[in-house]
Amino acid sequence: MRRLTFLHAILLGSGCVAAADSIYHDGWNDLNKNGLKDAYEDPSQPVEQRVTDLLARMTLDEKIGQLQLSHREVDAEKRFGDAIRQGRVSSFLDGSQLIETPTQRNRLQRLAVEQSRLGSPLIFGHDSIHGFRTIFPIPLAMACAWEPGLFERAQTVSARETAAVGIDWTFAPMVDLTRDPRWGRIAEGFGEDPWLASLDAAACVRGFQGSDPGAADRLLACLKHYVGYGAAEGGRDYNTTEISEYTLRNCYLPQFKAGLDAGAWTVMSAFNCLSGYPASGNRHALTEILRDEWHFPGCVVSDWTSVEELVPHGVAEDAAQAARIAITAGVDMEMVSTTYADTMRRQVASNQVAPAVIDQAVRRVLGMKFAKGLFDRPYVDEALYTNAFLTPDAIAISREAAAKSCVLLKNQNGTLPISRNVKSIAVLGPFGDDGGSLLGCWAARGRAEDCVSIAQGIRSKLSPDAEILTVRGCEASTSAPFMHKLSGTLVIASNAPTAGDAAEIDKALAAARSADVVLLALGEPSNWTGENASRSDLDLPGRQMGLFDAVAALGKPVIVVLVNGRPLTLPRLQARAAAILEAWDPGVQGGNGIADILFGDVEPAGRLTVTFPQSIGQVPLYYNHLNTGRPTLGEYVDGPRAPLYPFGFGLTYTTFQYGPVRLSTPELRIGQKLAATVQLKNRAVAATAGPRPVRELKGFQKVRLGPGEARELTFTITGGELGYSDALGKWRLEPGRFQVWIAGDSESGAEPVPFEVVK
Ligand code: BGC
Repeated sequence: MRRLTFLHAILLGSGCVAAADSIYHDGWNDLNKNGLKDAYEDPSQPVEQRVTDLLARMTLDEKIGQLQLSHREVDAEKRFGDAIRQGRVSSFLDGSQLIETPTQRNRLQRLAVEQSRLGSPLIFGHDSIHGFRTIFPIPLAMACAWEPGLFERAQTVSARETAAVGIDWTFAPMVDLTRDPRWGRIAEGFGEDPWLASLDAAACVRGFQGSDPGAADRLLACLKHYVGYGAAEGGRDYNTTEISEYTLRNCYLPQFKAGLDAGAWTVMSAFNCLSGYPASGNRHALTEILRDEWHFPGCVVSDWTSVEELVPHGVAEDAAQAARIAITAGVDMEMVSTTYADTMRRQVASNQVAPAVIDQAVRRVLGMKFAKGLFDRPYVDEALYTNAFLTPDAIAISREAAAKSCVLLKNQNGTLPISRNVKSIAVLGPFGDDGGSLLGCWAARGRAEDCVSIAQGIRSKLSPDAEILTVRGCEASTSAPFMHKLSGTLVIASNAPTAGDAAEIDKALAAARSADVVLLALGEPSNWTGENASRSDLDLPGRQMGLFDAVAALGKPVIVVLVNGRPLTLPRLQARAAAILEAWDPGVQGGNGIADILFGDVEPAGRLTVTFPQSIGQVPLYYNHLNTGRPTLGEYVDGPRAPLYPFGFGLTYTTFQYGPVRLSTPELRIGQKLAATVQLKNRAVAATAGPRPVRELKGFQKVRLGPGEARELTFTITGGELGYSDALGKWRLEPGRFQVWIAGDSESGAEPVPFEVVK
């Protein structure tokens, strides 16, 4: 193999940090002058020692290079080739359309491993949020299955597919709690309950990383966005957040802690200003909590240019100060912006940044690369690429997840399930026969042609002679249904129907008139959720309600299937539709999963993990709120205070009776356990296919009961679950009176049963 020239090494050396030995280093996998491998190259050495050994050989420029995460562009080799050879590039992030084959990645990797002085490997990251090519339902949807194990299985597939193109690291799971459905990124999270979200976060981490993230089919996970990003004021993306320490610790941090406890190797620092100081420079969050309290050993990467954005935030006057603030606060690696790369050398030379600060960040970056096994297996097996995608097991999990994510919101007079004997169904609406519209935001390499549309799913349930009439009826949105700024001018887009729209609606009405069953698939376009896709209104966009009203006016029962990425305001649909199935953005197998529910092959068992308000003016509205001093007052003068559908809501094709709750003891001595038992009965007689929140989720069970069957369910309550963090971060479990409800959702349940927690 090559031997680097003395001259080359001198040019690279910073002169102030490089160990003399490194100048003579003979490259990756070469034996050193004693005929041995260097310690960092030797897999038999402990990682800690390998990191220390490598660090001691690195020049300052090489170290700073490790701290840069660059956006991989089409001509990455041309653009970054020299910098890679000089050891100044550490990692790549793949955006929308770049990564195609593992061969491209291996080629870049070869430049680093075989042509740079120390042969330090690159790491490749990508956003696989809910699948790579096999797209699963969006996380908010999957959370409604109340089955963390489903996340684990789905993310295992996602890891396998993503790794097959040569990616090592995913920027997921997004564990941001939000209470504001205007925020487009609500789609990426798990809902409004920190306890359930913690289980889901941990399950995702296990799915991505497995027991060894270094395995060829696993990825490093990244918990994001640290922290408080989901509390954006006004639901506007990137906006300021004000979160008390009390709420931060009890609501926004637990999911991160759970993900770290599950072994997540990396954390991403957020864009938002967190209670007075930007998250990507926030020492309290990044060091005092993450490192000092939680002892997180892994790597913190900034979100996209969020280090540079410390300047417009107004806390740094230039790139150098931004870099200094971020690195000393605890951001190890900078994504896309280059303030570290551009200024750190100078700042170290002028003693503005201590070499030890750089070393610490580099250690963490190297640590994650070692965890991924990149020093021992820098290349991916290109053969894994063939047949990696949309395998039968992946498709099956995607279909199962699509069905389990569905939440039945209304089912008047047993409208659902639909009989398989129907002769004709009108499948109307912009989402009725458009598979690609089911992918949702952050759909990685999901393709429209891989998707099963709702009409296709329905077709597969019916006899070949049954008729399926599909008409779009209207578009999912008008091009600009809101006021927007165009070249500095305020434009109000017209929402008035055109002649073409009227003709479409007439076609839809004709189909509805002639069909036995009328189904309307309505919702939000995928790009109306996700990043930078906030809404100022939660109604169905465009002219979809006009289409619904026209169809409903025919007087036939209308089944509505909703395809959307956030809670919507649906009182009009609730009043007039015969059945409403919330299917969310269900992914590539959406049509099949939805049809499984519509025809009763799978029981609808999804329950909302997020509150649906009646109107946007109620936002934020969430079940686990604190009580006020005047709990019965504080109504709106012009509308209801109660949600349309509370957290936990979801119907099934049968009804359940919850018996009274019995406790094993009226007193829970701290450190002991208490069992709460309820009898749950399937009512069907035949098969039909400081201040604490007013309530908090402490357990759930998903059971299957046959008609008339009853079963006792026992929930164990331990002291730990009843504790909470005070504003100083101290965990408290205080003696006192508690109440237990065991119920179907957060608003129902008979009289609660009280018990006492005693010391
Ligand atoms: C998003 C992150 C994402 C990153 C890389 C940012 O704009 O906020 O969630 O991981 O881009 O794609």
